[in-house]
Amino acid sequence: MVTAVRHVAPQAGTPETLAFPPLFLWGTATAAYQIEGAAAVDGRTPSIWDTYCRTPGRVRNGDTGDVATDHYHRWREDVAMMADLGVGAYRFSLAWPRIQPTGRGPSVQKGLDFYRRLTDELLEKNIKPVATLYHWDLPQELEDAGGWPERVTADRFAEYASLAAEALGDRVHTWTTLNEPWCSSFLGYGSGVHAPGRTDPVAALRAAHHLNLGHGKAVQALRASLPSRAQISVTLNFHHVRPLSEQAQDVDAARRIDALANRVFTGPMLKGAYPDDLFQDTARLTDWSFVRDGDVQEIHQPLDFLGVNYYSPTLVSGDAPESSHGSDGHGNSAHSPWPGAKDVAFHLTPGPTTAMGWSVDPTGLNELLLRLDADFPGLPLMITENGAAFDDYVNPQGEVNDPDRIAYLEGHLAAVHRAIAAGVDVRGYFLWSLLDNFEWGYGYSRRFGAVYVDYPTGKRIPKASAHWYGKVARSGVLHTSTESVD
Ligand code: FCB
Repeated sequence: MVTAVRHVAPQAGTPETLAFPPLFLWGTATAAYQIEGAAAVDGRTPSIWDTYCRTPGRVRNGDTGDVATDHYHRWREDVAMMADLGVGAYRFSLAWPRIQPTGRGPSVQKGLDFYRRLTDELLEKNIKPVATLYHWDLPQELEDAGGWPERVTADRFAEYASLAAEALGDRVHTWTTLNEPWCSSFLGYGSGVHAPGRTDPVAALRAAHHLNLGHGKAVQALRASLPSRAQISVTLNFHHVRPLSEQAQDVDAARRIDALANRVFTGPMLKGAYPDDLFQDTARLTDWSFVRDGDVQEIHQPLDFLGVNYYSPTLVSGDAPESSHGSDGHGNSAHSPWPGAKDVAFHLTPGPTTAMGWSVDPTGLNELLLRLDADFPGLPLMITENGAAFDDYVNPQGEVNDPDRIAYLEGHLAAVHRAIAAGVDVRGYFLWSLLDNFEWGYGYSRRFGAVYVDYPTGKRIPKASAHWYGKVARSGVLHTSTESVD
């Protein structure tokens, strides 16, 4: 998403009352490996994240998802908490190695039963289940057979999608194929800061294509067994890319990052073609002959909406020395997650940052939604993740006050509202995350939850932001403390 750089200073002004459309979906989001725990229970086999966590030096403090928030055992309490908040939808992911251990063959009843119980309870409490098939936990055996850089993984994924749809199609209303395939490809196989931790730029590009192909095949598999009312989507982590200046090299850097982060997925998925400039920019690395005739048609499937994850904008210039790639906020690695773009430097947008070191800038979300609406007219949008990590703690009164998170959410919800007012069809918003959880390479050191988790005991304490968000969700009305800007 390339736009001219614009720095917006927060303004004091009149508070606003912003009403969202009556059918707007208010939800919270999580992912299996980040919350479930019970890593070796009921037949689950290791995923690439179990292996990665066990590799010394990969995850902060040597943390693993073995126990996480123990949601596998505390799911009833977690659903009750959502019902108390008053949210109308819950986005969670299915653990592939729990449903189809080793990534091949028949499904495991106990694994499916867990999701049956969870979804029954959600429906009972009037909370719509929104299930993601793949939130990064590839069965380790499939990685051992080559992982996403190999074409066969796309076929395996479609088989797993069929199993999940057959078992849960009567109760899951909204399906998402992949969560953030950019992270799976470029952090997993490029910079290696995510599992499986490989650092091969060509493997990263191959992975991106096979994730695209897996998406297309999975959409077809889902449509084949789901009732016609089922909603099918994909979630992408759009990089809203801004050039640092209007100089040609910065504008070109933004174009290249836009291709590698966004259009590598939206091209085939939504337009039916890979962008030519992506092929040209990476021609020194690969001729893309792994894209076979007919692949792009298979990837280009009709979707009911597009899932948008947004945290922060991306500010780039084209002047990094060849030897470095700057910090792009996605962990430290000597290897770039941007194949063929080592001369691109990443900058912080002036203003506040979160505990992740990510710039807080709601204008990026507003601009992103406007651009997506212009690029893909008629395709409804859903904010499937938005939120922030801060250094939360329990005060002596036993409460967790997180005004920074409330301010972040308020600013971003106002940005969504402005997009809706401008005519963009945004159907809902999912706060990342319901609970504090395992934040990938950062382990438990980063807290994104609306609900605080005391890891030694597993105790849940709704933060001030949870109460605040619950009020917004129940009323569908956002009262801002200052006039929003864009
Ligand atoms: C996204 C992931 C999600 C979570 C948030 C903070 O990239 O989809 O699992 O880690 O970032």
